[in-house]
Amino acid sequence: MININNVLYTYIDYNDYNLDERFYDIIVRCPIPNKEAVAVAKIRLDKLLAHSGIGTRKQVKKLIRKGAITVNGRPVGDAGMIIDPSQDEVFIGNDRVNYKEMVYIMMNKPKGVISSTHDPSERTVIDLLPPELIALKPFPVGRLDKDTEGLLLITNDGELAHKLLSPKNEVVKKYYAQIEGLVSEDDVRAFQEGITLENGYKTLPARLEIIRASDISEVYIYLTEGKYHQIKRMFKALGKRVIYLKRVAMGSLTLDNNLKPGEWRELSEDEVISMQQLVT
Ligand code: URA
Repeated sequence: MININNVLYTYIDYNDYNLDERFYDIIVRCPIPNKEAVAVAKIRLDKLLAHSGIGTRKQVKKLIRKGAITVNGRPVGDAGMIIDPSQDEVFIGNDRVNYKEMVYIMMNKPKGVISSTHDPSERTVIDLLPPELIALKPFPVGRLDKDTEGLLLITNDGELAHKLLSPKNEVVKKYYAQIEGLVSEDDVRAFQEGITLENGYKTLPARLEIIRASDISEVYIYLTEGKYHQIKRMFKALGKRVIYLKRVAMGSLTLDNNLKPGEWRELSEDEVISMQQLVT
């Protein structure tokens, strides 16, 4: 599964299906295949420099005017020069500028696809994206089960993904669920106290909110951790069965109601900033 000698970039996954629960918190470095060789979007030189953290657009324009920037070995004076990041070599003095275009996608994951980057036989959430986005090597932040729907953040920002998944940041994930059986205040208390799963693991305190208690109950669940099949296993331990599960929010990000299952959109700048602020 993991070939350390062929690491393309760091991929963080706390919920790998193939891992034992004891290893969930290990950061896994795993190779991401080059799904399709597609050219990365071209970009203006000043934008590339600003997005690489060199400075504001104003500051980088000054640097360019001073002749401090070379592209493919030649000094460049035009801030608007179009750069192909996959071909062109941009330097400040002797230092190569390492540009990586960041992408942040909100997907309404449909049932029937798996939350991973590649799979020999199953369709993945990445397969639902266009080639120009796949070329940026995005990966899902955490996992939803194959039959779970709803909010999935997909990004190539490893640092943000790591922080969002780190248990110490306690990012709240909100789920809507339909449960076979009458959900009661006893269940609410059990969630609050922590539930011992079939393998002996006791879950962290979680909130269960009853929307409608009936033979098919409707609830919201708020979790700060993400163990494999966690909600299904929590209800199973209470003698009940989850028959529908959808994630509706993660931290400050709420699933856009306009997105039908399988649809996605890029996050707005405000959404990205509010997720970043959540974990810094
Ligand atoms: N809990 C589950 O059981 N499944 C999911 O997909 C997410 C949380």
